[in-house]
Amino acid sequence: MKKTVFAGVAALVCLGAHAAGQVNIICSVQAEQCNLVQTVFSRSTGIKVSLTHKASGEALAQLNAEKANPKTDVWYGGTGDPHMQAAEMGLTMAYKSASLPQLRDWAQSQAQQTGYKTVGIYSGPLGISYNTEAMAKKKLQPPKCWADLLDPKWKGEIQAPNPNTSGTAYVEIATLVQLMGEDKAFDYLKALHKNISQYTRSGAGPVKNAARGENLIGVAFAHEAPVEAANGFPVVSNTPCEGTGAEIGSMSLIQGARNLEEAKRFYEWALTPGAQELGVAAKQFQLPSNKAAKLDERMPDFAKAKMIKYDYAKYGSSAERKRLIGRWEKEVNSLPR
Ligand code: F6P
Repeated sequence: MKKTVFAGVAALVCLGAHAAGQVNIICSVQAEQCNLVQTVFSRSTGIKVSLTHKASGEALAQLNAEKANPKTDVWYGGTGDPHMQAAEMGLTMAYKSASLPQLRDWAQSQAQQTGYKTVGIYSGPLGISYNTEAMAKKKLQPPKCWADLLDPKWKGEIQAPNPNTSGTAYVEIATLVQLMGEDKAFDYLKALHKNISQYTRSGAGPVKNAARGENLIGVAFAHEAPVEAANGFPVVSNTPCEGTGAEIGSMSLIQGARNLEEAKRFYEWALTPGAQELGVAAKQFQLPSNKAAKLDERMPDFAKAKMIKYDYAKYGSSAERKRLIGRWEKEVNSLPR
């Protein structure tokens, strides 16, 4: 008798677990945020989340490699340009959430521009971050402008991300191209290359390393510095005086997703104010796209930055992104330092 009852309960638990299902996510924000999102969504829905952490460019490469047999259901976070490229390449599917009107304009226009194949979930401006203690010890004036980074005194002191893997790095190239014109931007990148000690795999890398004293300066989104400051490191960021660009961090449903119902539930959940407030709970400071999500004073202030009018459609196009990264690889990364 006991055995029968036990078998019955076990069967129910199994049935429950099966009914709740699973969702496979590639996550392109920092690991702390990915982990919290995974735990909270999973606890509140019973849906099992299998999560892979990848920089934006790496995520796009994986989705392209598995397109004949997709293993991923949702791509959560990462810069918007590769999400737009994925949409153009047919790697992601159109889905129009009923929550779109609750989102900020830039998040809605990211969706409209791709025929609803991606949506904005956060934003943040590109900046120049530095270690304040190391800077003071060396009695150096911190850089405020893109032009300042070319000073030979910074040789071996600057890190920036690598556009082959990092979406941040591509936002940097596209920003400079829009700010200076393409040839001048590449002259600038070649000159900057002389001062670079390392191109990192991820966008957050240069600031994490500056926090730990490996380098003085990191080119990255301005919201990376408060992450390190919240962990007790002496790091701050400026937005460059000449002007800067911003990312529209995005989310997409994968074409051919095997767990489509669960993927849609995750997608809808990720657009809610509560889910977007998990960023700050994980000590991450991008501006959330849902207008009702609470803001935090440590988030970079767009009103104080000189923002360029970033052309998301042009720089998110597959041909443009491939061409600019190819040119960087050929003309900049190949140079000696
Ligand atoms: O999670 C921090 C963050 O800067 C996001 O705002 C951004 O979308 C992502 O990292 C970019 O990462 P990567 O440059 O490594 O692709």
